[in-house]
Amino acid sequence: MAKEAISTPVIRRLPRYYRFLGELEREQVERISSRELAQRMGLSASQIRQDFNCFGGFGQQGFGYHVKELREIIGEILGVRKDTGVIMIGAGNLGKAIAAHVDFEKRGCKLIGIFDNNPLLAGTMTASLPIMPMESLDSFCEQHKPQAAVLCIPKDAAQQLADKLISLGIVGFWNFSHFDLRINNPDIIVENVHLGDSLMTLAYCMHHRDETDE
Ligand code: NAI
Repeated sequence: MAKEAISTPVIRRLPRYYRFLGELEREQVERISSRELAQRMGLSASQIRQDFNCFGGFGQQGFGYHVKELREIIGEILGVRKDTGVIMIGAGNLGKAIAAHVDFEKRGCKLIGIFDNNPLLAGTMTASLPIMPMESLDSFCEQHKPQAAVLCIPKDAAQQLADKLISLGIVGFWNFSHFDLRINNPDIIVENVHLGDSLMTLAYCMHHRDETDE
């Protein structure tokens, strides 16, 4: 496999390739050409070939891509078998919805602890896990060594909490707090998620339909 660094736009497309290849596998499709995959995904065939070339190609002239093999390779790149320990901070409306509806394990992660500073929530269950008080955070991290945190707290609390979590060993943030975290450490990875941005992208594309590329 090529060892070159993969660019961020390609990485952002990988989960989508992984999902579509999973669908093809369930439909028992063994191989697919870049043209057919492109049609299915609403991309261009050259985009797909370019993307897959970033991690070694794998297409064969006249054969296309081997669906199962390609999905395994993309899954390996995405780390879907890694079992990364994840904690969640903030078990309000959003936190509970994410805990209940995101299949962490299918994506190489395991939600192992949920924390909230509301004493009324302590001990109540979400996604089969008891919500723990913030006072338990240090000892929990020491014992279970989670690597990533989902932040579903108000934005005012996000930066301070992130700094504390880094001191407890967290190296990845899935941050929903509506505050773009500032972390001056290249070893810490932050994925800021704003659902509203996605809605605005939709609105833009709808209003500029005639100008967007095929
Ligand atoms: P919520 O008020 O229902 O839940 C927030 C929870 O965080 C509460 O249970 C509260 O006790 C807890 N909390 C507050 N400060 C804390 C701290 N310092 N430590 C631990 N727990 C703390 O709010 P909701 O609706 O769940 O939203 C949570 C955050 O996510 C808000 O900031 C909201 O603006 C944001 N949000 C972001 C979205 C996105 O697309 N990024 C979409 C929806 C909401």
